[in-house]
Amino acid sequence: MFEHVDAYAGDPIFSLMERFVSDPRPQKVNLTIGFYFDENGKVPDFGCVDAAKAWLADNPLASPVYLPMDGMPDYRAAAQKLAFGASLPQVQERLSAIQSLGGSGALKVGADLLKRYFPDSQVWVSNPTWDNHHSIFQGAGLATNTYRYYNPQTRQLDFNGMLEDLSKLPAQSIVLLHPCCHNPTGIDLTMEQWQQVIAIITERKLLAFFDMAYQGFSEGLDEDIKAIQLMAESGQPFLLSQSFSKIFSLYSERIGALYVVCETPEIAQTIQGQLKFTVRTNYSTPPSYGARLVNHVLGNEALTSLWQAELEQMRQRMHDMRQQLVSKLTGLRPDCDFSYLAVQRGMFSYTGFSPAQVARLKDEFGVYLIDSGRMCIAGLNNKNLDATAEAFAAIC
Ligand code: LMR
Repeated sequence: MFEHVDAYAGDPIFSLMERFVSDPRPQKVNLTIGFYFDENGKVPDFGCVDAAKAWLADNPLASPVYLPMDGMPDYRAAAQKLAFGASLPQVQERLSAIQSLGGSGALKVGADLLKRYFPDSQVWVSNPTWDNHHSIFQGAGLATNTYRYYNPQTRQLDFNGMLEDLSKLPAQSIVLLHPCCHNPTGIDLTMEQWQQVIAIITERKLLAFFDMAYQGFSEGLDEDIKAIQLMAESGQPFLLSQSFSKIFSLYSERIGALYVVCETPEIAQTIQGQLKFTVRTNYSTPPSYGARLVNHVLGNEALTSLWQAELEQMRQRMHDMRQQLVSKLTGLRPDCDFSYLAVQRGMFSYTGFSPAQVARLKDEFGVYLIDSGRMCIAGLNNKNLDATAEAFAAIC
């Protein structure tokens, strides 16, 4: 019956993490998957989340029935305040929103919706992007293509190439954008550059789909949504996926949201119905625990302040690790220019190392990066920083 089924080649990020785990070398360094590790190499439990868990344990649901198809209303209200910040009033009336299974779940529901109503549209993602963007959109039946983003020669943004490629797209093309902490390069657009991109989106009637998994990891919670706010001000329709995996350290709860900013409140109501239908025909309704945790934190002033402080500490630690790595590398190899690493932002950096260099790092030094040369900055700490810098210096 199943003889014709092809073997799954495996996911490049998850497969590598499995290889890391089975590597017996004690000095190995994990710079692969996007988990935030603290200074002790542990994925932290947030104090604010622990407090929320304790509260939920003392206050069980009166009636633990299914959530609505589009999720917990209070959670959605709290999550959208965070995602849109001060520009929420500009979109509130014309906003459809659902609770999702993390950021990936939001992308998938959005992709299914787009395939149903824009069957002839194709998706354009940055080159490079998170590998799973291709898989999720293709899995929904949409063809994916790339627009220029990263110039391997300069190790900088290829902004002219990006603009040129976007300017040629047919109307209703779907353009996937990272509002902050671009995964995998860590290279973000300036506000002036966002303005130019949004002008092209508007002029060419493109459909922007923002994927936001790292709000607060670049400059701060408000600063990191500036691109979303510009888009909201433009009055154009767009989609936004939001994830709490990283910024609440709630990876396993699968908690996020999908927003569709529509042209009118009437259309938003119709889209809300279609989003519910998409959920119902995929997994019926979302789970409640992660939503209740996030909602409890965001609904409580003291816990929100605690969360913001915890997030700020993570942001600062990643920033420090990045700067320290660059300064150690510059000391070890004054003949090489590593300044491009210092200006990248968020959880990831694109080292520019070739697959052969990445293989040497893994095989000779036990330092694991994704084959593309992406490293997870949050995997660095004061115990492995010297060894990592020495390994980088030896292979570059
Ligand atoms: C990553 O890019 O490493 C993370 O987003 C985790 C994942 O799901 O791939």
